[in-house]
Amino acid sequence: MTSVTVLGLGPMGHALAITFAAAGHRTTVWNRTPSKAEDLDATVAATAAVAIESSPLVIACLRDYDVVASVIDASALKGRTLLNITGGSPAQARAMAAWASAHDIAYLDGVIMSTPDAIGSDRAAFFYSGSETALERHRDTLAALGPNSEFLGADAGRAAALDVALQDMLWTSMTGVAHMFSLAAAEGISPQFVSTHAKGLVGFFPDMIDMLDEQLRSGEFAGEAGSIDSAAVVMDNILDTVRANGLDDSVLTAARAHVQRAVDAGYGSEGFGRLATLR
Ligand SMILES: NC(=O)c1ccc[n+]([C@@H]2O[C@H](COP(=O)([O-])OP(=O)(O)OC[C@H]3O[C@@H](n4cnc5c(N)ncnc54)[C@H](OP(=O)(O)O)[C@@H]3O)[C@@H](O)[C@H]2O)c1
Repeated sequence: MTSVTVLGLGPMGHALAITFAAAGHRTTVWNRTPSKAEDLDATVAATAAVAIESSPLVIACLRDYDVVASVIDASALKGRTLLNITGGSPAQARAMAAWASAHDIAYLDGVIMSTPDAIGSDRAAFFYSGSETALERHRDTLAALGPNSEFLGADAGRAAALDVALQDMLWTSMTGVAHMFSLAAAEGISPQFVSTHAKGLVGFFPDMIDMLDEQLRSGEFAGEAGSIDSAAVVMDNILDTVRANGLDDSVLTAARAHVQRAVDAGYGSEGFGRLATLR
């Protein structure tokens, strides 16, 4: 069993620390608020530098990159591996990799596709980019986090790039989910009733994603299964109802304007994948 340090005990860092300790790894933690370590079978370091010096693998799981920069200590990290699984942009990941390289620190950037409760199980997935040597060195330790992991390449920003693309989909969709509940309520439909049918509708999403993927790969945007013109009509119907109920229409108005750009460019009869080619 190896030693591992976790910096940050928010919901995710706490789940990581519990999982490493349960797998038998000597786990050292540091958190700004030390009381969050009370239920952990781990050594609680008084400072971040002491925590860093306790293990060859140091995992930062903090609010954002600014917090990571304020917590990590270059001289303590020298010769160790920093695995930063704090959410950020590809540019931030690349800048941190450059900083680490200048300080003789092996750098891996990581992305977690999971909620804290799934860490350690096959429902969690991890994506890494940066130093493959560092990943291989610590692969056995990281295996405690779950069986699903993928290395995306030496460009440290690649894991974050995948993350922001997927999160783009997630948060525009979640905004739609919240708005669906508002609109349903305004029309007297209960949350329970609409959520049942929403889950049925979302069941078609994987097929729709495959269809857009196929359109983009082939460069052919056949609109027989549903054209941009017909989507525009549906969106206008929704907007009429949203406005009639006095609800916020900003997100759907922006989405409708994006569709209109495709129509104005002459793509109205084509499939929805065409929108992904607009800049
Ligand atoms: N939660 C999830 O489901 C999830 C899923 C995937 C990825 N992630 C990523 O994991 C990272 C951590 O997320 P999280 O949900 O565990 O919690 P979070 O709320 O994003 O971050 C909380 C952690 O940051 C620390 N922190 C915040 N401001 C600080 C400061 N100024 N100085 C020092 N420490 C500071 C907190 O310390 P205190 O305890 O002292 O406040 C705590 O350790 C994020 O980047 C997030 O994007 C989370």
